[in-house]
Amino acid sequence: MKLGRGDFKPYIRLLAYCKPYMSRLIPAVVCMAISSLLAVIPPWMIKYIVDDVLDTKNSSTEARLSILALFAGGVVLISVFKAMFSYCHGYLMAWVGQKVIMDIRLELYDKTQKLSLRILYRRRMGEFMSRITNDVSTLQGTLASVVVDLISQSITFLGILGFMFFINWTLTLCAFAILPIATLAIDRASAKLRVVGGHIQEQLAQLSAIAQESLSSVRIVRAFATEKQEYDRFDAQSRSHFKAIIRGAQTRGLLEGFVEVVLFAALALILLLGGHGVVEDRLTTGELMAFLTYIGLLVQPVRVISRVISAIQQGVPSAERVFEILDERDEVLLPANPILIPDMKGKIVFENVWFAYEGEHWILEGLNLSIEPGERIAIVGETGAGKSTIADLVLRFYDPAKGRILIDGIDLRELNLTEYRKRVGVVPQDPVLMKGSIAYNISYGLPNCSVQAIKSAARMSEIDEFILSLPEGYDTEVGERGVTLSGGQRQRVAIARAIVRNPAILLMDEATSSLDALVESQVQSAMNEAMKGRTSLVIAHRLSTIREADRIFVISEGNIVEEGRHEELVMSRGHYYNLYQLQKGITDA
Ligand SMILES: Nc1ncnc2c1ncn2[C@@H]1O[C@H](COP(=O)(O)OP(=O)(O)OP(=O)(O)O)[C@@H](O)[C@H]1O
Ligand SMILES: [Mg+2]
Repeated sequence: MKLGRGDFKPYIRLLAYCKPYMSRLIPAVVCMAISSLLAVIPPWMIKYIVDDVLDTKNSSTEARLSILALFAGGVVLISVFKAMFSYCHGYLMAWVGQKVIMDIRLELYDKTQKLSLRILYRRRMGEFMSRITNDVSTLQGTLASVVVDLISQSITFLGILGFMFFINWTLTLCAFAILPIATLAIDRASAKLRVVGGHIQEQLAQLSAIAQESLSSVRIVRAFATEKQEYDRFDAQSRSHFKAIIRGAQTRGLLEGFVEVVLFAALALILLLGGHGVVEDRLTTGELMAFLTYIGLLVQPVRVISRVISAIQQGVPSAERVFEILDERDEVLLPANPILIPDMKGKIVFENVWFAYEGEHWILEGLNLSIEPGERIAIVGETGAGKSTIADLVLRFYDPAKGRILIDGIDLRELNLTEYRKRVGVVPQDPVLMKGSIAYNISYGLPNCSVQAIKSAARMSEIDEFILSLPEGYDTEVGERGVTLSGGQRQRVAIARAIVRNPAILLMDEATSSLDALVESQVQSAMNEAMKGRTSLVIAHRLSTIREADRIFVISEGNIVEEGRHEELVMSRGHYYNLYQLQKGITDA
């Protein structure tokens, strides 16, 4: 039963997770060993029962009957002990196994929380979810079978082998002459099972991804009447998954069947050779019976071990898929000695910042920016120019490839990131609300936020009146993606969420893009109020919203092409002027 060294690598790593639980694992393995050994004793007793009790005339009838009673009692006693030890190992192993899996799942979840957005966005969300749920579950099954079955059945196997050798070693060798054939079959099947196992998990992940995607874009699916198309996609994927699973079951079934045939061939061989032995008086009847019982008993461990080998093979891809994520390089490395700025002013400096999402496909090319504390900055530029990217860099979602970003004169990479981010308020381009009440959403990340603070933030973002009109006011639940609120309402809740943190830096990416002109002007004045005393970075398409900015940066082709106040930029008749004319034309029209 050969397994390559590579097969065990993920398992050795899994075993490392068992380390903290050694105090339970070791007793579990000991109980397992004892109960396995107890299982192999009864056939050995058969030899004595047959030879010394049933098939002998050497001692008196009473003596033989009392030995018989003794053996019968012994068999019961052994089974009681075996049950006790089985119970202990079952309980302890389940405990350790579940703990290990829980640890891995938590680590995986924690990792996905910290994973570079580059990697997170490159894969499908459903695929990640599948790794956290399905692959970890598969691992759980394999871990249990590897540790419990492999160890206990191997002990049983070796125990049986030992007793067989003890009774008659030549016969044992004959019986095991068949073994190499079985090994060869298992070897071939293993390689196949491993490929199939990887395929199954991959198909399952795709299935989750499709379900997740069509559910989260249910509005698009309905609006474009593509239900049938989505259903077909899901159907096709389900079929691939089904096929992969059936292929696995076929291979496994063939393997198990073959192994059983080999075992029965061994049984027949023993019957033949052993029978000859008994007839020719080289072997006692008791020995032959014990031998045959042992071969019968071997069916169980051999079958289980071959199943474990399948499980190991099928589990390897799952383990690899889990570890692949755990091994993903952290992009945003936290400093060894994080710096805390006690009273952050909010000065932002970009020093020759180069940034690309992929390789050398530069989005920012040596950007230089210097924003004073309390300054109101607006960033404009055509779509895809890199405006949101700048906001992401200020939040340190990514690190620049070259150059650096300084906050109050300190490199962003040196800062205590959690504390820093608490001092930054963000209104993203597409605000997502968390599942929970409106109050929870506004105070998200501030568990000790007072009701007054929540309400005053809501008033500032002109959403207070609307919230009070809801049946449960601030306690009204909003859906996972805030589906019960309109885009503009969601945006205003997001503004309140940013303001309530009393941030030193305020980042607003198209914060008012879904508001109508009237509400926008109301929110605008509220925001102007909110921006007082804070460094604010406003990204806007509608130039009307940034007239008040202290300075406007126009971004194009990875750099700032113009900079100044609204009037100055209009006067200079450059990029900004063109944009302005274009929008004015549209508005006038
Ligand atoms: N996660 C990502 N992975 C790869 N490329 C990205 C990613 N996010 C953005 N980009 C690319 O980087 C460029 C800048 O994107 P960014 O979102 O910063 O533009 P933007 O100026 O905010 O545009 P808009 O005005 O449309 O919001 C775009 O070409 C975009 O395709
Ligand atoms: Mg953007």
